[in-house]
Amino acid sequence: VDNTTQGIYQLYTAAQRLYQHILLNTTSGEQALSYLHDTRQLDDEIIKKFGIGFVPEDNALLGYAKDQNLAHELMHASELFITNDQGEMRDRFAGRIVWPIKSDRGQVVGFSGRALDNNNKIKYMNSPESPFFTKSKLLYNFDLAKNVIRQTNTVMIFEGFMDVISASMAAEDNAVATMGTALTNEHVQHLVRIANRVLLVYDGDEAGQRAAQRSITLIQENTKDIEIGVVHLPDKLDPDEVRLQQGLSTLKQALHQNIQTPVEFLISVSRVGKNLSNQAQYLAFLQEVMQLLKQATPVEQDIQLTRIANEFGTAKSALQAQLEQTNKS
Ligand code: CTP
Ligand code: MN
Ligand code: MN
Ligand code: MN
Ligand code: MN
Repeated sequence: VDNTTQGIYQLYTAAQRLYQHILLNTTSGEQALSYLHDTRQLDDEIIKKFGIGFVPEDNALLGYAKDQNLAHELMHASELFITNDQGEMRDRFAGRIVWPIKSDRGQVVGFSGRALDNNNKIKYMNSPESPFFTKSKLLYNFDLAKNVIRQTNTVMIFEGFMDVISASMAAEDNAVATMGTALTNEHVQHLVRIANRVLLVYDGDEAGQRAAQRSITLIQENTKDIEIGVVHLPDKLDPDEVRLQQGLSTLKQALHQNIQTPVEFLISVSRVGKNLSNQAQYLAFLQEVMQLLKQATPVEQDIQLTRIANEFGTAKSALQAQLEQTNKS
């Protein structure tokens, strides 16, 4: 590691400490702290555990960097500042609550910032891609989670860091998140070395369902050594919303009990938007089901066909015959 790299790492660490200090101990952090306490129901202990901070509008980090006589080049490469048309630098994350993103070893390598109000700013902003911050390789919270992932042989993958934090509050510490990006081959290669079971805990909305579908495909293309479960969350909520609206114990319960197999999940997705009392749509649904069941084990085929037979009053023998036809085609 050369001097510039070392200097940048030191700056990230100093920035994280400064931002947290501002959040917890100063008047310019008061509004953000109330938001985290009251609206997000986070206490100081969890705020400290995850290193959350606040970046005020007064260019506090820029002031620090100048005090330290940091080289302009280093400041530029850190991506913690933005330069305006007049060539003046200011703190990139000004006005935002920030979550430090850490490497596998726990070194701060960037931040994700959330606007306090949703009105006039884009809600989330991350550090831009750089040699230090590569979203396709980073998993939020991997540094804290890796030992528990090894112990439990299981990793829970979430969409956002507030979801990971909610899981941690429910004493589920094998949680990581892909920060607003799709799961990648690199992520999967990394995880398969320490776990043989993945739980996908995506938002209950349509975007989350689509992301889960993509992740299932990606994982299955990558490896046969991982068992996949898909956690179904109630009422189209995300995990953090489940905690806030239905309580930590409901979230914890869902993470352990509302687990679908990939086939079960994909069949439920295939139902969406179809009127299954309409014969043509029911038949189209069945065709999709049979395609999904081709790869399933005989037992899972039997379970799913029994369910459909019972729900729709179709003879199970007919469903089995159609599956056999599909297998041949
Ligand atoms: N994200 C991002 N950039 C965006 C939107 C989202 O990087 N423009 C990332 C963030 O890491 C966020 C995650 O994707 O945590 C999930 O996004 P989303 O579900 O949209 O966030 P919300 O749950 O709506 O965020 P919050 O609970 O803070 O309102
Ligand atoms: Mn408070
Ligand atoms: Mn979402
Ligand atoms: Mn969400
Ligand atoms: Mn959320």
